[in-house]
Amino acid sequence: MPKKKRIGILTGGGDCPGLNAAIRATAKSAFKMGYDVVGIRNGWRGLIQNENKILDGDNTSGIIDRGGTILGTSRLSPFNVEDGPQRVFDGFEKLGLEALVVLGGEGTLSCASRMSKMGLPVVGIPKTIDNDVKETDYTIGFQTAVQIATEALDRLRSTAESHHRVMLLEVMGRKAGWIATYAGMANGADAILIPEIPLTKERTAELCQMLKERNRRGTTFSVVVIAEGTELEGRTIKRRSLKIAEQRHTYLLGGVGNALGEVIEQQTGLETRVSSLDYIQRGGTPVAYDRSLATTFGVKAAELIKERKYGEMTALKGNRITSAPLGKVADGIKTVNLNVYRIAAIFFG
Ligand code: F6P
Repeated sequence: MPKKKRIGILTGGGDCPGLNAAIRATAKSAFKMGYDVVGIRNGWRGLIQNENKILDGDNTSGIIDRGGTILGTSRLSPFNVEDGPQRVFDGFEKLGLEALVVLGGEGTLSCASRMSKMGLPVVGIPKTIDNDVKETDYTIGFQTAVQIATEALDRLRSTAESHHRVMLLEVMGRKAGWIATYAGMANGADAILIPEIPLTKERTAELCQMLKERNRRGTTFSVVVIAEGTELEGRTIKRRSLKIAEQRHTYLLGGVGNALGEVIEQQTGLETRVSSLDYIQRGGTPVAYDRSLATTFGVKAAELIKERKYGEMTALKGNRITSAPLGKVADGIKTVNLNVYRIAAIFFG
């Protein structure tokens, strides 16, 4: 009997809801095409350290609604490890793989792009709650994070109203404020603050003025959402640094909400409370949209492998599931569409 062809699949970077739905879809459609599928554990680390598990009909069933990733993940970049890329090639060959599917955000997919240029047959699937990957309208996980953040904002509104307070919610978004923009728009937030529009002293003063004005008009509460990566001029925010050498980012964000809360209280005299969603927005069950997106991306990734269209990433453009070169993703991040932001801003104040 001829040996069956094998492909590998890995999840790298921060986890997000919908990863398991994508693993299931990629694996099950690959099985139907006649491939065996190996799950690489903990991102690129699994290829370097030879940690993997064979995927089959059993362990890829019943996981479409499960949060996290059954494969585990890490933020390790092979380019930060001695001989990393060569060890990836060695791991790939040892497993007898024909191609590799990489589920990742901008960081992991940029590594995939570099590995692809070095000759690794790789196909990408974009995932991250941050939605900051270029060449695709949405990434897997984004809609779930927006749903969680919107529900949190809705809850904050009712308590803000009872206590006549300003409620500030900090959400994730290192360099792009997609979650803040879409959740803020869905909640009808009174202000949405994102990394794309830094909070200069002038802008902060305008924000405080707007909050005071609302209060003067008799609306005695406000809801504001801020992305963790938003700069607040005049305040240095203490960051927790990460000491893991191979990790792509070296410090944790978070804290801008508390800093802004203090400024708002000082400048307006309005009682202000700050909440942070932290990892709650990244865990748990994916919403239906993310499950469907993950399923269509997984099937598309298997097709790309069958057609040997390596160096590509699955992508959503309008209503179309298509693909885009991984090289374009490595170009930088996708920042918030300011036309969408302007629509949300119509309802500020
Ligand atoms: O996955 C992206 C992200 O959610 C960022 O918004 C956030 O800053 C970061 O992950 C936190 O990552 P870690 O899991 O390394 O703490």
